[in-house]
Amino acid sequence: MKRLKIAILASGNGSNAENILKLAAEHPEWLDVRAVITDNPGAYVIERSQKFKAECLVIPFEKKATIEEGKNAHESRILGVLRERGVEWVCLAGYQRILSHKFIEEFYDLNLIASRVINIHPSLLPSFRGKDAYTQAYDFGVKLSGVTLHFVDSGVDTGPIFLQGHFERFENDTPEQFVARGLEVEYRLYRRGLELLAREKVRGVRTQNRTYISIQGE
Ligand code: GRF
Repeated sequence: MKRLKIAILASGNGSNAENILKLAAEHPEWLDVRAVITDNPGAYVIERSQKFKAECLVIPFEKKATIEEGKNAHESRILGVLRERGVEWVCLAGYQRILSHKFIEEFYDLNLIASRVINIHPSLLPSFRGKDAYTQAYDFGVKLSGVTLHFVDSGVDTGPIFLQGHFERFENDTPEQFVARGLEVEYRLYRRGLELLAREKVRGVRTQNRTYISIQGE
């Protein structure tokens, strides 16, 4: 298996980050977390990282003259850390900022025909893009929902789909029960996705101006 050198970017609770850190602790031979980064000094992911003896770097967004300038400066600092540590894959785990085209391009992979930046989104894309997808799906009254692991492009939750998993919404579900069931799917998908990448089973196929992700043996 190939050793994946990854960074995790998270803004809040960090349960997905913890899931990945746990996976790396179980399989250090193929998963190497070289950086955990948050933009939020109050994020719980900082404490979760400590449990795994992983330092979580806090890189807060600083206001500049324009939003664009602020974003450039923030991303440059993050990229500096990623380059310094030889990070090859970026795992977004509840990261609340939209990455620029420039950032995404830095991780472009010819074999994948997509960027090596992965995100977990809590809906069956393309339904319920954007913020609070669990709430959006729950409030809409879906009977079936799911989670999407996808590669990031410059749109919001529009990148090539890597893996999807579904779960049911039961009649008496509270929003909390609905989310809890979804989170279990999130952890399972991220684990499976990273393992497939380490096994080098994943490649991109380009048709009709769009990249589709093909998984060898599926
Ligand atoms: C998850 O539901 C993830 O799908 C979404 O943000 C949430 C982050 O949760 N992108 P956590 O911080 O990993 O617990």
